[in-house]
Amino acid sequence: MTQTHTFEVLVIGAGGAGLMAALYAAQTAQTAVLSKLHPLRSHTGAAQGGIGAALGNLEEDRWEWHAYDTVKGSDYLGDQDAIEFMCAEAVQAVYDLEHFGLPFSRTTDGRIAQRPFGGHTNNETGKPVRRSCYAADRTGHMILQTLYQQCIRHQTTFYNEFQVLDILIVAGQVAGAVAVELATGELHVFRAAAVILATGGHGRMWEITSNAYAYTGDGVAALVRRGLPAEDMEFFQFHPTGIYKLGILITEAVRGEGGVLLNGKGERFMPNYAPRIKDLASRDVVSRSMYLEMRAGNGINGERYLHLDVRPETVNRYAAEDGRTRPDGSPYRVSAEEILGKIPDIADFCRTYLGVDPIQQPIPVQPTAHYAMGGIPTDVHGRVLQNAAGQVLPGLYAVGECACVSVHGANRLGTNSLVDLVVFGKHAGQHAAGFARANGTPALPNDAEGFARQQIEQLRNGSGSEKVAELGKSLRALMSDQVGVFRTQQGLQSALQQIGELRQRYRHIRIQDPGRIFNQEMLSAWELGNLLDLALLTSAAAAARTESRGAHAREDYPRRDDAAWLKHSLAWLNGDTVQLDYKPVTITHYPPKERSY
Ligand code: FUM
Repeated sequence: MTQTHTFEVLVIGAGGAGLMAALYAAQTAQTAVLSKLHPLRSHTGAAQGGIGAALGNLEEDRWEWHAYDTVKGSDYLGDQDAIEFMCAEAVQAVYDLEHFGLPFSRTTDGRIAQRPFGGHTNNETGKPVRRSCYAADRTGHMILQTLYQQCIRHQTTFYNEFQVLDILIVAGQVAGAVAVELATGELHVFRAAAVILATGGHGRMWEITSNAYAYTGDGVAALVRRGLPAEDMEFFQFHPTGIYKLGILITEAVRGEGGVLLNGKGERFMPNYAPRIKDLASRDVVSRSMYLEMRAGNGINGERYLHLDVRPETVNRYAAEDGRTRPDGSPYRVSAEEILGKIPDIADFCRTYLGVDPIQQPIPVQPTAHYAMGGIPTDVHGRVLQNAAGQVLPGLYAVGECACVSVHGANRLGTNSLVDLVVFGKHAGQHAAGFARANGTPALPNDAEGFARQQIEQLRNGSGSEKVAELGKSLRALMSDQVGVFRTQQGLQSALQQIGELRQRYRHIRIQDPGRIFNQEMLSAWELGNLLDLALLTSAAAAARTESRGAHAREDYPRRDDAAWLKHSLAWLNGDTVQLDYKPVTITHYPPKERSY
């Protein structure tokens, strides 16, 4: 029997964004969080190298520099009002995390430690600036621990291992959500005045990805099925350093601490592509440079991977060549102990997954699908927008990777995902609580769980012969080949056709396990449906955008075209077709310029 629960605010997803939203909502409104995982297993735990904020603890820094770097990193597609808001708020947000108990690494005089990261610069010298506030290489993990403890302290109710299936919208206003309890297979209806989606990204549609298995675009897909658009789906970030063949993230902090990328000839190649900032250029630039090196036959042993070298002798050699200094002006030199103290988890991953000791040997790496810049369109309060005119859907909010504010534009700077989720998580939580208090909880529609039940029963009763695993494999292969770091019209058209075929075949899948208790096969089938829908939107938006900008690199249109394309895309799913519309980018202080690093 379906159970019904009533709350003022319902948060869906318990990563950093969901926990932050819940923490602030729970201070004034009755709040519940539902999550497909235990909160401490959420993907925010994979964020390693730090959270950017212009604290200026080790050298001069200003939030305005952080804002300009973010605008430039976004290839001018980020909305500058939202970026300025985020970077100005980031400083207090980091101190709030510190006061909540987050165990940041420290400078010798006890302040929060900071390290350089890609694309973060001193705007006067153009040189890398230490802006990323970190807890060794476990920053995201520490954020989860800290925020979860705070949520418990504020009496937030958790429904763990509940999979959202549908968002309820009645007469143009949100009324709650429907989820399946994984332990029992029972449906639960959550009635709520405000719903905050914090369901993360969708990187599992690519073969090589840093994303957790859970990252299947559930919240975005649920809304798209309810007739809402997704924004800027063509922009998906490939992080330069994933473990070869596995995709597991090797934090950019490795390069922040002085590690360099080397090709098969043992040459450091990034100075050829980004002469000023080298290995710390923005991720789109570094990933493309790596592809070009590999294409030129300069992979290791001619294969499709390169080396990330953080051995102390390598770091010290290139630091001397670059003239890198410590904050006190002394030459930058590191010991094995210092490196191991700063990236202990990375050292463990390398030993466990590669049998490589990074103090003795270089790390084999390749670009890995990492982060969705696009997602559910929102304003700075996290309110979901329904169209290019910016019409708000009352009571519905989205934050974190599933949302598109847009602060990342065409390419996110490292550390800014954590900034995004704490800043906008807080504001969405506060706004949603205020909305719920002011508006009260609407009545549920008749047969509230009907659409969710129909989706699940269709999968359970499927009598075709198609297999979830095979369709998933085909999707990942075609997305990697045709909708990866470099794209062409021909490749994108072929992707659209193949995704269309896979969506047809999906209608004929058969699952082997009809049971209800922890039915992972059923869950995977439903998740695959989400990935297929979002892959269609991604490819359609990418095929339409005939320019190169940030992470969207068209070989047939290699230049950025501001006259035609300085605009955000909105993509609606209409049955088997995609409808596109566009809206302007907000420019405040930084008119578009050519990027150089
Ligand atoms: O490289 C990293 O540590 C990843 C951080 C991020 O995606 O912001």
